Amino acid sequence: MAFTTVARVGEISVGGAKQVTVAGKTLALFNVNGNFHAIDNECPHRNAPLAEGTLQGTELECPWHGARFDVCTGAVLSPPARSGVKAYKVQVSGDEVQVEV
Ligand code: FES
Repeated sequence: MAFTTVARVGEISVGGAKQVTVAGKTLALFNVNGNFHAIDNECPHRNAPLAEGTLQGTELECPWHGARFDVCTGAVLSPPARSGVKAYKVQVSGDEVQVEV
């Protein structure tokens, strides 16, 4: 497991998201009040791209059917998704946002 640079700090505004690919995985990267969080991009319900969801605080709403997830842990908070997604460690080094995959 190693940290890989996936974005620059200034690329993702507070409350914003970016879809990134690292080590063959597609992740959704979020900026929650200056803290970055990464989870698998694919919603476990019907595979919607979670990077296109709506972020409120640390809660993300899936863009297709409204399942909610905690972007810090990947845990599912409300249906129709029945399971959560994997969350990844994120660190900031200088102006680089790095994810451990
Ligand atoms: S695809 Fe995410 S809730 Fe249906």
